[in-house]
Amino acid sequence: MKMANAINSWAEFQKFLDDCCTRVGAEPDFSGHGRWWQTMTYQKFVTDGSVKGERIVVVGDPNNSTLIHALQGDTPAFSKGGKYGRMPLSISGDDFGYFNQDEIDEIKDWILRGCPEGTAIV
Ligand code: HEM
Repeated sequence: MKMANAINSWAEFQKFLDDCCTRVGAEPDFSGHGRWWQTMTYQKFVTDGSVKGERIVVVGDPNNSTLIHALQGDTPAFSKGGKYGRMPLSISGDDFGYFNQDEIDEIKDWILRGCPEGTAIV
């Protein structure tokens, strides 16, 4: 069952991605894009933030947000064997887990609510 409202700010979104990476054992630090959610500003993220040339989110529209497709692996580019593969990508082949649907739904919910920035302090 979906909790909803687990993410209410940019800081919580940043922490949520880190926590999910920890849970699944993913190490994005070594990827070409690193922890972009930590290095990018909120302003950049909501206006034209991109990863590998892909615009990350459409604020208010999770189903058209690349981030969601990347995590769900449900578009040709992000599916197994696709141009990128599902995120978090396991280059070495020792599969990390993927974010589960409840986790992805929390991110979708935050995007749907317009990616509220909230306060800077967690
Ligand atoms: C819009 C969102 C994203 C895009 C477009 C994207 C794109 C890519 C691409 C093209 C690669 C392979 C090439 C490279 O590393 O330079 C990659 C690798 C990777 N990505 Fe993403 N990514 C996204 C989000 C994420 C997220 C949210 C995570 C983790 C929470 C993640 C984790 C990883 C990991 C772990 C690797 C490979 C690490 C390694 O080199 O072993 N990515 N990503």
